[in-house]
Amino acid sequence: MKVTVIGSGNMGSAFVSQLHRAGHQVSVTGRDAGKAQAVAERFPGVQALPAAGAAAGADVVVLATGYAEAVSALQSVGGLVGKVVIDITNPLTADYMGLTLGHTTSAAEEIAKAVPEAIVIKAFNTVFAQVLAEGADFGAGQTVSVFIAGDHPEGKAQVKALAESLGFATVDAGGLKNARYLEPLAGLNIYLGYGAGLGASIAPTWLHKQA
Ligand SMILES: NC(=O)c1ccc[n+]([C@@H]2O[C@H](COP(=O)([O-])OP(=O)(O)OC[C@H]3O[C@@H](n4cnc5c(N)ncnc54)[C@H](OP(=O)(O)O)[C@@H]3O)[C@@H](O)[C@H]2O)c1
Repeated sequence: MKVTVIGSGNMGSAFVSQLHRAGHQVSVTGRDAGKAQAVAERFPGVQALPAAGAAAGADVVVLATGYAEAVSALQSVGGLVGKVVIDITNPLTADYMGLTLGHTTSAAEEIAKAVPEAIVIKAFNTVFAQVLAEGADFGAGQTVSVFIAGDHPEGKAQVKALAESLGFATVDAGGLKNARYLEPLAGLNIYLGYGAGLGASIAPTWLHKQA
């Protein structure tokens, strides 16, 4: 797939690395062109692009900015009509120990409202950057899950295929409204990792007893 990653921070650079490793055609853009360029230079064939037009030709856009910058970042890229945007954001408080919104809406729904031309799919928000960078295989037969929520079946199928190409298991988490559950789940993951001291090599999953 052709994938544009917006943001060259912890998650953005880990996405670039894993998408490149999986053979996707990857572009990266960010607020700081130098940082995006520095990430791109680590991977042969990865292109750093200016924001405007960075999504042109992409099958999928990965939104890897903070929630507060998400809408302005998408607007600066433009060209999102009918395009799948993976929203990985968590609307965190400044101390990372709470969420700034929830229950009656979610970051994903607010982004979808603000950028209605895009197909917004919530995914990867419960995967720590360290886990993304190191890979989905947790040993002993354990594979990290990506929870996928969205209102567009074809868009969700595309995100599922992308996640699987990176080695993740996937869980269909229903409509975009269920981002209201996935964002607090990421909050619990952050608490367990950093508040309770389990560290960043953890990930939530869902067990399904096999007959
Ligand atoms: N870190 C994790 O483990 C983790 C796990 C799951 C989900 N998430 C979510 O993933 C998102 C990114 O997290 P992160 O840890 O990667 O943060 P980060 O390291 O701070 O990176 C954020 C990136 O967004 C870029 N950015 C900000 N405004 C932008 C704009 N208008 N246009 C383009 N790029 C812009 C920043 O660029 P500059 O460097 O130029 O400021 C930076 O490269 C957050 O929403 C977070 O909640 C994080």
